[in-house]
Amino acid sequence: MVKLRNDFLWGGAVAAHQLEGGWNEGDKGISIADIATAGTNDKPREITDGILKDQFYPNHEAIDFYHRYPDDIKIFAELGINAFRTSIAWSRIFPNGDEERPNEKGLEFYDKLFDELLENGIEPVVTLSHFEIPYHLVTKYGGWRNRKLIKFFVRFAKTVFTRYKNKVRYWMTFNEINNQPAINKGSLLTNSGLLLKKNENAEKLMYQASHYEVVASALAVQIGHQINNNFKIGAMIAMVPIYPASSDPKDIFKAQRAMQARYWFADVQAKGQYPKWLVKYQEDSNFDLDITLEDLDVLKAGKVDYIGFSYYMSMTIKSKENEPANYKYEEERDIVNNPNIPTSEWGWQIDPKGLRYSMNWLNDKYGLPLFIVENGLGAVDEINHNHQIHDDYRINYLKDHIEQMEIVVADDGIDLIGYTPWGFIDLVSAGTGQMSKRYGLIYVDKDDSGNGTLNRYKKDSFFWYKKVIESNGENLGNL
Ligand code: BG6
Repeated sequence: MVKLRNDFLWGGAVAAHQLEGGWNEGDKGISIADIATAGTNDKPREITDGILKDQFYPNHEAIDFYHRYPDDIKIFAELGINAFRTSIAWSRIFPNGDEERPNEKGLEFYDKLFDELLENGIEPVVTLSHFEIPYHLVTKYGGWRNRKLIKFFVRFAKTVFTRYKNKVRYWMTFNEINNQPAINKGSLLTNSGLLLKKNENAEKLMYQASHYEVVASALAVQIGHQINNNFKIGAMIAMVPIYPASSDPKDIFKAQRAMQARYWFADVQAKGQYPKWLVKYQEDSNFDLDITLEDLDVLKAGKVDYIGFSYYMSMTIKSKENEPANYKYEEERDIVNNPNIPTSEWGWQIDPKGLRYSMNWLNDKYGLPLFIVENGLGAVDEINHNHQIHDDYRINYLKDHIEQMEIVVADDGIDLIGYTPWGFIDLVSAGTGQMSKRYGLIYVDKDDSGNGTLNRYKKDSFFWYKKVIESNGENLGNL
């Protein structure tokens, strides 16, 4: 017998820039997602200097949800979800990011979207910043390297909290705030809008920008609670547990430090203070960060109400000979293959049991309600001439993870708010810009070059998930 909350949220998750399209409609400004070209697993997306004529930008049209949302929501209602996680594109509300007054047309769009959802019995769950900061904040201020971004973000948060205070209950501040590794390569960082300058210390910059983000998040939490004290405002972290490759104590410590380095963001957001190891590490590294006493008070006063997290995979780490005591975690360098679990076509190691491990770890550490706000399998789908998509592989992936989620609730007694699988309607991949990396239960007819009718078709996984929801998670059987 599964004991999910009575008000358990069964939903689906997306992000504005990955599905809306309408990139320059309703007086929207350019976001960093609008200047990202299409890539593949082997060829990274490029960030161009503004919009170039001969380039293809997959997020410009995405799946055209901006125009099609009323029809799409009918399909969502048929699926039976009661929650829809999306983000508010910052550049719809503040096109440049630094205006004093919001763009009314952008606010109206989300009013209509949220009303349509609510009329269909679907509660919007909203992320404030999901890889889509206004590009102007990058060119004029250097993105989150600049303290001024705190003010701009807080203004944005206050505007949308006030406007939607009776329509939205669950909020998250920054999507996958701990996903900051691309900085090592000097590329524009999706979360923080950073371009590395010549000879700049990337690690220091990451800590500085992240500090401004956690302060902005804490201020938003405080303001949100003042606007409506029923708001639940969460952190959102990319949860990828890192296992030691063996029982060698060197591997064990390395995995522990990797976990500390990956999850200190949640420590700050949930506990209101930096962990001791990090304070020491930053001091020893002579980063000389701009962290004021006032900031530290803000962090204490702006603790989150729950931990939202994405879960796709686990990683494994192995030590090397003669590693220094102050080991620096570097994901791309240090992760090794885990031979015990399979790997997806995009190289992600699939590990349903790791979800149980992760949720217990998060619960032990923070003791806050948890919310699985992303989970899913990116895979190539084939559509037949009857417009059917037999995606058993996706059903199996979701089933295995939901099974673990239910064990966590029933056997481990952990408080879980809901489950919103990622990209439950096909959308543009954030990592590669592809359409062919599909997560959806609903197929969208569009290819990687932007061709297709944009028609929607229900995959086998759609009918399967519908039954899961109808039975409140009791019926996980295949069709
Ligand atoms: C998460 C993001 O990292 O994973 C989403 O929050 C993203 O925006 C999802 O789409 C899946 O990643 P990808 O690269 O396959 O789109």
